Amino acid sequence: MDRRKFLQTTGLTLGAGSLSSLVPSVLRAEPESVAHSATKFPTGFLWGSATASYQVEGAVHEGGRGVSIWDTFSHTPGKTANGDTGDVADDFYHRYPQDIAMMKRMGLQTFRFSVAWPRIFPNGTGKPNQQGVDFYNKLVDTLLAAGIQPYCTLFHWDLPQVLQDKGGWESREVAHAFADYSGYTAGFLSDRVKNFMTMNEMRSFAMIGYRDGRHAPGLQIGRKRMAQLNHNVVYAHGLSVGAIRAHAKGPVKVGLADNLEAATPCIEIPEHIEAARKGMRELNAMYQTVIQEGRYTDHYLKTLGPDAPHFTQEELDIIKSPLDFVGINCYTAHYVRAADNDAGFVSVPNPSSYPHMYSPWLTVGPEALYWGPKLSHELWGIKEIYITENGCSSADKIAEDGHIYDTDRVMYLRNYLTQLHRAVAEGVPVKGYFCWSLLDNYEWADGYDKRFGIVYVDFATQKRTPKLSAHFYESVIASNEVK
Ligand code: NOJ
Repeated sequence: MDRRKFLQTTGLTLGAGSLSSLVPSVLRAEPESVAHSATKFPTGFLWGSATASYQVEGAVHEGGRGVSIWDTFSHTPGKTANGDTGDVADDFYHRYPQDIAMMKRMGLQTFRFSVAWPRIFPNGTGKPNQQGVDFYNKLVDTLLAAGIQPYCTLFHWDLPQVLQDKGGWESREVAHAFADYSGYTAGFLSDRVKNFMTMNEMRSFAMIGYRDGRHAPGLQIGRKRMAQLNHNVVYAHGLSVGAIRAHAKGPVKVGLADNLEAATPCIEIPEHIEAARKGMRELNAMYQTVIQEGRYTDHYLKTLGPDAPHFTQEELDIIKSPLDFVGINCYTAHYVRAADNDAGFVSVPNPSSYPHMYSPWLTVGPEALYWGPKLSHELWGIKEIYITENGCSSADKIAEDGHIYDTDRVMYLRNYLTQLHRAVAEGVPVKGYFCWSLLDNYEWADGYDKRFGIVYVDFATQKRTPKLSAHFYESVIASNEVK
């Protein structure tokens, strides 16, 4: 069947290159005329998407960029699926003008990107690399010219290799180098970028990289060193907050993008909700809790016993540096129930039949997008929350008509956004949402097989094709409500 005929029979219409060409005309009515306005988000709610430098940029040998731990790791045989590397990825380094034009057509209001530390300081510290500075300046200028607000993450896992050689995140010297890099980078971007995040997912880069060894730098350092490393990471974050503020050229907001364990009551009755509240503090004791409260919980220190980290009050004060906002990366729910033990909760493991997306770890728990922000707000009085990542992998296939019908991703996004709306409607101060991800990209050790984009990327030709989920998201943005 030819493409036009197929579209007619399915109710789809062909637009002249318009992104809405996949949306059945019946759904393209004016937002006001759609009945279910019960899921309207507040005016001014920001809709965006997120990416990260090593996952999209490619051009690893261009622009004076230094080597990162991910270059080393991905080029080590056996470390990544199919031996995939980020050498080319989405070639975003060269194609960002077209990608930003596409974002604009989709109606995206904001874009979260990360700066590759080794592009700015190829040797981790010392003399900055002007070509790296120029690249991010141009990226930001292009976003602003398209009317898209840039949100900048300073560290999304591509640590300069030279700094790993000095001990990586176990080293105090590296924590201070991070603060210097953060201050310098915020310094040159802050006349235009108004929102900075220090780090992305401390838990992931620390635990998967240094405890499990499945991500760069591929180490397994044991419990005691791990506890000290976690302390050094939150300390580096605190130093970075101070450095950003000290070097900013105008008012900026500072936060982080944290994949906190979203403690979620296994059923929503008071005793399990109370267990989730306790679980939220304890499951995040070494990251969000110490950042918000400036102390480690008794339970955390007791559980670690002799392996607990060494720390001083001065360090805790730095770790607790006040934040303007908290970004939550949320993919899965961590179910808990009430228990008569020291902690007041236990985790409820999912049975093997529990539904998940294409990545086996990505179990479907939409309520996490309600409980994560809600409990963070209630426990720590956080006044400004963003969902800095949410999305999923899908076994995307190009259909005969050239489209990608990722109905599972649409299902996932719709359910999570409905739960997010529930939180917002109750007054939880969530100000915006960044879909992970704009483009299919380099999914770390899973390589290119696990696609997270709402836009399909043919990695052989770099052709971009918005998926059904892109059109879903486009309609959410246009109407400011869940469709
Ligand atoms: C979180 C990470 O920040 C991002 O880099 C990754 O691709 C997504 N989760 C999906 O796994």
